Amino acid sequence: MNRRRRIYEGKAKVLFEGPEPGTLIQHFKDDATAFNAKKHEIIDGKGVLNNRISEFIFQNLNDIGVPTHFIRRLNMREQLIREVEIIPLEVVVRNVAAGSLAKRLGIEEGTQLPRSIIEFYYKSDKLDDPMVSEEHITAFGWATPQEIDDIMALAIRVNDFLSGLFLGVGIRLVDFKMETGRLWEGEMMRIVLADEISPDSCRLWDIKSNDKMDKDRFRRDLGGLIEAYSEVARRLGILSENESTPMGGPRLVQ
Ligand code: TMP
Ligand code: ASP
Repeated sequence: MNRRRRIYEGKAKVLFEGPEPGTLIQHFKDDATAFNAKKHEIIDGKGVLNNRISEFIFQNLNDIGVPTHFIRRLNMREQLIREVEIIPLEVVVRNVAAGSLAKRLGIEEGTQLPRSIIEFYYKSDKLDDPMVSEEHITAFGWATPQEIDDIMALAIRVNDFLSGLFLGVGIRLVDFKMETGRLWEGEMMRIVLADEISPDSCRLWDIKSNDKMDKDRFRRDLGGLIEAYSEVARRLGILSENESTPMGGPRLVQ
């Protein structure tokens, strides 16, 4: 049993108290949920893959000066992160029409958008994460106008980085969701990238075949989720080339 203090349990992750003040341990579970957890399954090995893929992305973002909560990976399922005050918004960046945008506006899935579009959703399971505008965000005090500017600038940098990263390995970044938090350093506060970025929170399509390599495989009952996530990891150079038995528990390089 885990004797560490549990700070928060979400649908796919648990946060534990960290080894030092101002740190937390982020633990990736194998739970897959969709439609606000109305659909739920345990998918062996998903947490291990997401931990490693998210580590890779956050470490690369840190390295190019995009501020994140990530410190280092600790083991197969856990990473050490800085404790931040989570801003209660899901920030979605879209490059190609899909999912709820395609449905809401009647645009065919796969249509390239005229430019990248940023949307905000209020994080509330009870309300099913409703879409909100900057007016709602400032009126209800979820973030200030300056913070919204910072969040949008961060979202654009993350989108540019991720689009290039995935394009380089033959994957189209259709859209993704990110979360942000306030990191306090003495009297100074800055907005940093938080939570995770993984195939759970992105739409990733193979450039040649348009095959889905993300959580839509679960949402839409397509099967092969672990194989798809493993392929993303393999293309990013995280899983070794000859790794072909993910169901036996993915073996990781390093
Ligand atoms: P959507 O098209 O369903 O609004 O999803 C947009 C993107 O956000 C997609 O990459 C999936 C991701 N997402 C999450 O990470 N969590 C969520 O709860 C939802 C609804 C979407
Ligand atoms: N993560 C959300 C849920 O658990 C929805 C989704 O990703 O589709 O319901």
